[in-house]
Amino acid sequence: MTHEPLYALLYISKPRIQEGDLTAILETAQRFNATHDITGALLHNDNLFMQCLEGPKQTVVTLYDAIKRDSRHKDVRTIWIDEIPQRRFGRWSMGAIPLSSLSVGLSDRYALNTYSHLAQLSAVDAQNLLDALVPFVQESFAV
Ligand SMILES: Cc1cc2nc3c(=O)[nH]c(=O)nc-3n(C[C@H](O)[C@H](O)[C@H](O)COP(=O)(O)O)c2cc1C
Repeated sequence: MTHEPLYALLYISKPRIQEGDLTAILETAQRFNATHDITGALLHNDNLFMQCLEGPKQTVVTLYDAIKRDSRHKDVRTIWIDEIPQRRFGRWSMGAIPLSSLSVGLSDRYALNTYSHLAQLSAVDAQNLLDALVPFVQESFAV
């Protein structure tokens, strides 16, 4: 039982993936996270990754360091990190959100296709966005 504070981290990046990479990333994430008290969600389309990691602070920070070094994406940029009272994505070791599955209203409101816009997201907007994404989480990117 850990008493470390619970943290959430949100970042964006630009994918550099080939056929099969997305499935492999999600499988690795789900396997590792499930045994390390990490939960979260990964959004993807051709131009963007956005990932939320939740868990004990040190585990989140260490995992994020490894993720940042991964050559399957670039321009990794932290949007928001803070202590949280409870998990949003507690049901998923790593859930998948294809951006194509989101409503147009939600995509437009947060300009979810645009890296440069998301990079400017405030802490409040980042948390509102995460709340809005919860209903769209699924087990894999396959639709
Ligand atoms: C966009 C993206 C998200 C990732 N998310 C996770 C994750 O949540 N958990 C995880 O263990 N690995 C994740 N990975 C994979 C890690 O970057 C890395 O491959 C994994 O930690 C194994 O590292 P190692 O090969 O240095 O042991 C992700 C990779 C990418 C590109």
